[in-house]
Amino acid sequence: MRGEPLASSPALTPTLSRERERGQESAPLLQVDGVSLEYRTPERVVRATHRVSFDVHAADRFVLLGPSGCGKSTLLKAVGGFIAPVEGEIRLDGARVTQPGPDRIVVFQEFDQLPPWKTVKQNVMFPLLASRTLGKKDAAERALHYLDKVGLAKFADVHPHQLSGGMKQRVAIARALAMQPRVLLMDEPFAALDALTRRKMQQELLELWDEVRFTLLFVTHSIEEALVVGNRVALLSPHPGRMRAEVNSHGFSLASLGGAEFQGTAQRIHDMLFEEEHAHAEATA
Ligand SMILES: Nc1ncnc2c1ncn2[C@@H]1O[C@H](COP(=O)(O)OP(=O)(O)OP(=O)(O)O)[C@@H](O)[C@H]1O
Ligand SMILES: [Mg+2]
Repeated sequence: MRGEPLASSPALTPTLSRERERGQESAPLLQVDGVSLEYRTPERVVRATHRVSFDVHAADRFVLLGPSGCGKSTLLKAVGGFIAPVEGEIRLDGARVTQPGPDRIVVFQEFDQLPPWKTVKQNVMFPLLASRTLGKKDAAERALHYLDKVGLAKFADVHPHQLSGGMKQRVAIARALAMQPRVLLMDEPFAALDALTRRKMQQELLELWDEVRFTLLFVTHSIEEALVVGNRVALLSPHPGRMRAEVNSHGFSLASLGGAEFQGTAQRIHDMLFEEEHAHAEATA
């Protein structure tokens, strides 16, 4: 991370310097560089993020964690190319992001992101065909390959309304992975699921990552989910979002839940987010 000052918390500083020492040699795949994002309405301008900077490397599972309204979804939309920064820039493989593209695919929280009139397989094939990435036969083959990876090969010919919420999210993930994007963008993809299914989906996502090694930019406001899913977690302050700190969560998995180190890190992150909210509330009182 560059630009903004990082955490002053002594508890997190060693993690930060370890992260820097690791000194990845390869150039970052995705660079978010001093990015400020705003919404303009006729009455006013809402600043969603303020000079946010971070780098994502190939095969990172990079998590943006922060309270509601801190600009996580807006940042993801900007990386997706749907919103242009008013300040700073976003680069993918060194090239400035100016519009949406098949190299960045988003999976959203909503279950209704699949057109209901298409079968599961047709849903997964659709972006491959629409972007002319593949012809019909190859698209069908690739769709089945990724449906198999998310355990839904048997459901290829059913329609989305016949699936549970978790299954719909698996289809959305298969559809995104089938495009083999440079970065997979996920905006709270499991937030609308029940606790057990959510945990299962987290586990499956990690297993899928083990197999496919995609690069992930994942948004959540759950500290636990951030530590489980991510290898790096960026903490954003409340509205407008600024980079607060980065935590190395590489060592944590679902098996770490409840362990002392996991709990300690979760607590430190909680304190930092809470501290910041507290300070913010005082400043705006
Ligand atoms: N279309 C819009 N027009 C105006 N302001 C908006 C719009 N969308 C979001 N905002 C504002 O921008 C800020 C950031 O919103 P964003 O949706 O990115 O937050 P978030 O971190 O994703 O929150 P949540 O965790 O609730 O999803 C908020 O203050 C929000 O009110
Ligand atoms: Mg959001």
